[in-house]
Amino acid sequence: MQNLEQEIHARFTQLFNKEPLLVRSPGRINLIGEHTDYNDGFVMPAAIDKDIIFAIAPSDNGESYIYSVKYDERIKVDLKSPEKVEDPAWANYLLGVLHQMVEEGMPVKPFNCVFGGEVPLGAGLSSSAALECGFAFALNELFALKIPKIRLVKMAQWAEHHYAGVKCGIMDQFASVMGKEGHVILLDCRSLEYRYSPMDLKDFIIVLCDTKVKHKLVDSEYNTRRNECETGVAILKKYYPEITSLRDVKPEMLEKHKAELPGKVYNRCTYVVSEIRRVQQASRDLDAGDLVAFGKKMYETHEGLSKLYEVSCKELDFLVEESKKFDKVLGARMMGGGFGGCTINIIKKDAADRFISHLTKAYREAFSIDMRAYKVSIREGTSVLSKSPASII
Ligand code: GLA
Repeated sequence: MQNLEQEIHARFTQLFNKEPLLVRSPGRINLIGEHTDYNDGFVMPAAIDKDIIFAIAPSDNGESYIYSVKYDERIKVDLKSPEKVEDPAWANYLLGVLHQMVEEGMPVKPFNCVFGGEVPLGAGLSSSAALECGFAFALNELFALKIPKIRLVKMAQWAEHHYAGVKCGIMDQFASVMGKEGHVILLDCRSLEYRYSPMDLKDFIIVLCDTKVKHKLVDSEYNTRRNECETGVAILKKYYPEITSLRDVKPEMLEKHKAELPGKVYNRCTYVVSEIRRVQQASRDLDAGDLVAFGKKMYETHEGLSKLYEVSCKELDFLVEESKKFDKVLGARMMGGGFGGCTINIIKKDAADRFISHLTKAYREAFSIDMRAYKVSIREGTSVLSKSPASII
């Protein structure tokens, strides 16, 4: 982390010969509550110790550049109209944020920015949210725009919808900005009310196992799931005009009208309706310190995501099945949008290394892929790392 910060700082001063403002923005995990955010349900995410770091400072020559360390690539930004670009893809997450600030007439002046990080791409840890949120936060700080945090979250989500083309919910951006060290966030995605709950894992730790696969069509399948949920709501609304999302649907309503719902729509809705309830129960488990009950629910979630919501894949299913062979694993499931990325596991500390080497070996034998494992800890959301007086306007 220290090294990354130094690297980004050094690259900035080398390129732009100036002291920058440094901002970090984390990736996220989600303990439970998957595909519930865009259905007005509950989620339980947290920001983690994997960051994207931004170095940013005003430009002296009227031009604006953004440089990606990872891709060793830079773009020139037209501050008058930061439109979507064909290439490079990474630029759109940032341009989408900038676009809104410019549209709203915020006093964004020419700047230079260098960014890079350690949030693995395509692993379901929301590197895109970290990118959008960190950039929004950095501009907000640099130009003293006074945008409230929740507005930054929404601007980041807008960039994902309109510049990256994924109709995501609010969870990832919320977790990245609002995360709190050692706590999970219980977020009501309808009202955006939230509370922090201490994640006291006692002798357990969180291990992420990265399948290293990202199957095609992830984004279009994601949008399809969202549409299927909306179809379910539209059909049920004929009978229950008061409902506006799956949050309002009770299991009895689904059963009563099962025959009218296309099979897949019924399955998708069944999963979401039960997952929304499961998160509420899981939150009570956590308050009661009952990690065993919590872990069981993680397995139930995986089952639903795999069989009913159909967003898992053979690699994720394999890792979750293998985890069941360890009695020191309390729960495991696929995490995030699906079709690849990571599983999240809660496992006894002293068994973690054995667990990781067992899974690595089994996974390699099954798929000829080297899995990657991360022991993660829960950190603060997007924040300023250091302010250089010269860089602040
Ligand atoms: C992606 C989206 C989130 C959420 C999850 C699934 O990470 O960005 O909004 O819908 O998938 O829970």
